[in-house]
Amino acid sequence: MSTKNEVLTALLAEETAISGERLARKLGISRNSVWKAIEQLRADGYMIDAVTNRGYRLTYMPDRITEPEILKWTTGGTIGRRLEVHDRLDSTNIRAKQLAAQGAPHGYLVCADSQSSGRGRFGRAFFSPEHSGVYITYILRPSIPAERAVMITSLAAVAVARAIESLCDAEVKIKWVNDLYINGKKTCGILCEAGMDFESGTLEYVALGIGINVAKMVFPEELRDIATSIGNECGQSISRSRLIAEISNQLDAMYPQLETGAFMAESKARSIVIGRDVTVLRGGASYPAHVLDIDEQGRLVLRTDEGISRLGAGEISLKL
Ligand code: BTN
Repeated sequence: MSTKNEVLTALLAEETAISGERLARKLGISRNSVWKAIEQLRADGYMIDAVTNRGYRLTYMPDRITEPEILKWTTGGTIGRRLEVHDRLDSTNIRAKQLAAQGAPHGYLVCADSQSSGRGRFGRAFFSPEHSGVYITYILRPSIPAERAVMITSLAAVAVARAIESLCDAEVKIKWVNDLYINGKKTCGILCEAGMDFESGTLEYVALGIGINVAKMVFPEELRDIATSIGNECGQSISRSRLIAEISNQLDAMYPQLETGAFMAESKARSIVIGRDVTVLRGGASYPAHVLDIDEQGRLVLRTDEGISRLGAGEISLKL
């Protein structure tokens, strides 16, 4: 961790003021290094009072994504415990896949404040402006067969919905399989990419990418009718670092359910597609269907002109 982040971690842990001398001793650095780190934090927008004879006290935190703030709220043992934070990346999924190929451990988290090439499903772009959203990717190493990978997206959707609801007054719905909606508009997308071990046909790793529009924001014209943000819908601004920690906590607590599928009942209860007429888009083709249910493996149960079928991958659009 950088000295700046070590000083921030120490300030976050203090209820009252802490002297420069104690900070220096605690961190094993010079008082001059403490002072430099305090100045850097102030330049980042943190307000830090310097009280004569008592020391430094953190009085205001801007909404920044930082390792100390994420770790302050992270309670789980594995998922999201080890992480890296970037101001800007091309894509957190690209970075996570490189790290996974180099052996990064299960639960490792990549975060960025903005992305220059944020990726959505089917090669689409994901709008990822700075200071506004959460763009994160977890490296997971699940021991489930590749054909059950869709369950990870379903589990993550429930975990993120719970995390958002724990921090603001919103009802979060799931549009199968990877979109979260608030008040009828998309506020989060999930992109789950798998690395396969072709010898054994099992999953080597999964890069679980999650993008959430958090701050109040103005969307580009083409997204205005379909996308929203937590801030736009709830009028509340929530800490992005805290939201990331809550997502890690939910994923950590729910992860064992990947084996049992126990989260599927909640996934169904949050679904906005069950009972609806939809258009299925798959491999360049599209056809109409009626969604009867979501099965225990996270697949859509559809009634089509051909009869009853199950859909484990692909996309649907809702018919109005
Ligand atoms: C979609 O809506 O189709 C999925 C969007 C997933 C976006 C997230 S943002 C973090 C991670 N990095 C990416 O490049 N994409 C995912």
